[in-house]
Amino acid sequence: MDVVIEGKALLDSGLTSCCIGISDGRIAKIAKTISIADRRYDLSNLLLLPAGIDLHVHFREPGMTHKEDFNTGSMSAVVGGTTFVMDMPNTLPATRSLSDLKEKIETASGKCYADFGLAALLDSRTNAESLAGRATALKMYVGETTGGLGVRQEEISGLLGKAAAAKLPLMVHAEHTVPLPEIEETDLDGHDRHRSDGYEHMAAKAVCGNKPQEMRLHLLHVTTARVLKIARESGSTAEITPHHLLLDKSMKLGTWGKVNPPLRSKSTRLKLWEALASGLGDTVGSDHSPHTIAEKEEDFDAAPSGMPGAETRMPLMLQAVAERRLDIAQLSRYCCRRPAEIIGVPKGQLKEGFDADIIAVDLRTGAKISADKLHSKCGWSAFDGMRAIFPRAVFLRGEKVSEAGEIVGERAGRYFGGGGSG
Ligand code: DOR
Ligand code: ZN
Repeated sequence: MDVVIEGKALLDSGLTSCCIGISDGRIAKIAKTISIADRRYDLSNLLLLPAGIDLHVHFREPGMTHKEDFNTGSMSAVVGGTTFVMDMPNTLPATRSLSDLKEKIETASGKCYADFGLAALLDSRTNAESLAGRATALKMYVGETTGGLGVRQEEISGLLGKAAAAKLPLMVHAEHTVPLPEIEETDLDGHDRHRSDGYEHMAAKAVCGNKPQEMRLHLLHVTTARVLKIARESGSTAEITPHHLLLDKSMKLGTWGKVNPPLRSKSTRLKLWEALASGLGDTVGSDHSPHTIAEKEEDFDAAPSGMPGAETRMPLMLQAVAERRLDIAQLSRYCCRRPAEIIGVPKGQLKEGFDADIIAVDLRTGAKISADKLHSKCGWSAFDGMRAIFPRAVFLRGEKVSEAGEIVGERAGRYFGGGGSG
């Protein structure tokens, strides 16, 4: 074996003290003891979990690298225990054509600490066929948000057909199908009323109701239990974000809490927790959307929507496990296994044949999130001061990339294209 990591690992059978043997970056053997190894990590006092998979990050490169780039964005993800990220296409230029995609792969390779996938934009100008087998997924915006890339209601069913023909998973921002009224917003309540969950419900129905049977459709940042049910009933999958679980519009967050779709009411948020705990929804994704402090300090109406979250997603969910709001197997299903299955990458489980992407954690050692210790370029967090459990060590394909909140490895992130098999 190249590497052996010893600890209490989350296997199909539950938490088990064992050795994980790694060869060529993959888990080659899991056994009580493995005696021969070039390198050995004795982490027997820690839990070993699959590292996180985050299917929803905006690393802003190319075009907005004053907010983030693949280097800082991936540092952020990895330190927070996430070793695979999927970047969204609302960059400048948008990632729409095969050449945009190739350019982004080239930019990110050599710069990224995490393995990565790329979602290409699906709209009327996209040649989806040319992206088949190359992009990791497609992304469609049903509604207007950062980037101005929304599609019209009458385009939805044709575009779903294109994605199905390309056999790529389709990620959908489903927020509104009709134009929003022109209203000035002054606070989080106004933002929520302007872009209410009634619109989100309609958009989800318009998308899920037209889903070709065989396609993989993943609804992003679902804010209500009702929309999670629509997704499940249509055979689609759905993402929930940590911010819609942990933050709501009654909190005095001002522009720092301005996101699309908006933070909802406390009661909607608590129902989302219940839904999650009962197994509704499939993934927890961060929708890491960094904007600069200066942009967020603008008037409420002018400030951009979005907040960073790649580094805090796993630590906040681990804290939820420590508080018994979720069990460890559920965390691993939402944050690791299901996201990997949706795009078809051999990650997200501690099993022979899977990539050795592993985190070591101690559920007894929580700490308060401190924005100035985080690695995103944007330098702030709406979760500042909340308790979280950061991993002690993070391994990407058997190599240690982060330890005790700092990067210790190389920028060895690889691209995973092709859309997998689901
Ligand atoms: O709040 C958001 N910010 N929602 C989105 O859909 C886009 C994102 C961004 O890119 O800033
Ligand atoms: Zn997003």
